[in-house]
Amino acid sequence: MNNTNHDILVAKGCHGARKLKGTIVVKGSKNDALQALAASLLFGSPLTLTNVPAIEDIARLGNLLTALGVAITEDKKLGKKSLTLDTSQLHSATLDDDIAKKLRASIILTGPLLARRGEAHFPHPGGCVIGERPIDLFLDGFAKLGASITIRNGRYHLTAPRDGLRGAEIFFRNQTVTGTECFMLTAVLTKGQTVLKNCALEPEIESLGKFLVREGARIRGLGTTTITIDGGPLLKSLRPSYEIIPDRIEAGSFLILGALLMRELTITRCEPGHLDAVIAFLRSAGATIKIEPRQIIIRATPRQSYRALPLTTHEYPGFPTDLQALMAVFLTQATGESRIFETIFEGRLGYLETLARMGAEVHIHNQHQATVGGPTLLTGREVTSPDLRAGLAYLIAGLVAKAETIIHNVHCIDRGYEKIDERLAMLGFNIKRHHSP
Ligand code: EPU
Repeated sequence: MNNTNHDILVAKGCHGARKLKGTIVVKGSKNDALQALAASLLFGSPLTLTNVPAIEDIARLGNLLTALGVAITEDKKLGKKSLTLDTSQLHSATLDDDIAKKLRASIILTGPLLARRGEAHFPHPGGCVIGERPIDLFLDGFAKLGASITIRNGRYHLTAPRDGLRGAEIFFRNQTVTGTECFMLTAVLTKGQTVLKNCALEPEIESLGKFLVREGARIRGLGTTTITIDGGPLLKSLRPSYEIIPDRIEAGSFLILGALLMRELTITRCEPGHLDAVIAFLRSAGATIKIEPRQIIIRATPRQSYRALPLTTHEYPGFPTDLQALMAVFLTQATGESRIFETIFEGRLGYLETLARMGAEVHIHNQHQATVGGPTLLTGREVTSPDLRAGLAYLIAGLVAKAETIIHNVHCIDRGYEKIDERLAMLGFNIKRHHSP
């Protein structure tokens, strides 16, 4: 199934007004749900996932799994989606080229498939255009576990030794989120002990890891940079069920929306503890934020001005690269010059040229560094979303601006934000979606 739509969003700018007051509910985490779908391959019995966001990336990973023989059933209760994945009829280890090429996260299936079926075949994974996004750390890790790797016609073919993968020590040269997730899952079905070093610390990894431990996996060191896994057979617990944690990037996006565009916004069903870096940044810039259990309230006055601040992205718990573009929109409205340093990806500043077309004062120094001046009056334009996060940044910039902004490539935004137009319209913003055939 091809989920790519050609919808257009039209947003009417508020011209800097901050009149609205409302509440928005945060959906389940995209990145947690993606790895949880992959975790179904570790189970001998059906795995149920709850609080799954209804977004295109999940649909695509689901389609990949279905083509491998995984039966997926959906249930929707109280607005929360759940999926049950039954891998008992898994019959293939070959990822569909068309889908895998569009989804970077498809790489996460390869390790568990290799461990369970002794082989995995896949193209170079695609996804958001935010940098080179190599897979060398994955290939190095698979080789360490004893797999042989061949590359033919742009496809990777992994084969486990006859007696299966063997545990090993893997040091990640970069802290890689999907790499850590993939090898943690792979090692659960790998004989012997695997030690993963320089692991990513993103809360999604700890959350899924703790669930796997409850279901019988032997994983130590969760929440630290060294994770040790003693592998074994398929997990066979009765009715395993995992609740996807709230999406901290979505919650952070709403915090920025609230600071820029609302008198008061209550962000509910979120985990404030996962947003320390974003909250600290906004508070230093002058935002008023109140933290309560599972919710955050942000208040702004119509004439409130914010201070410019240097923004440096960092692996968790530092400032997330996924909120860099949105925070840049915020900085166009702060007083003074802000230096942006994107340390994770080398292709994640391109959106600034579009913000400049909207009137932002921007200077791109190199692939990683730029300066944004403010406050500036933005004006709506016709723009094309280059990736998920920059796409939402354009939408928010369009709401801050005067006049109308038309956004193309909306499917990029739909990849990670569930029905964002409807949810923001419920808050009172004037956003319309035009479906194209
Ligand atoms: N890297 C390598 N070789 C590899 C793998 C990664 O050099 O084999 C490098 C990357 O090029 C990058 C750095 O390591 O410079 C970190 O990349 P990482 O592997 O952590 O990124 P990812 O796992 O592919 C996840 C999220 C991204 C998020 C990054 C960083 C998922 C599905 N994706 O990507 O989310 O930006 O971590 O936090 O979990 C998004 O949601 O919009 C998004 C892009």
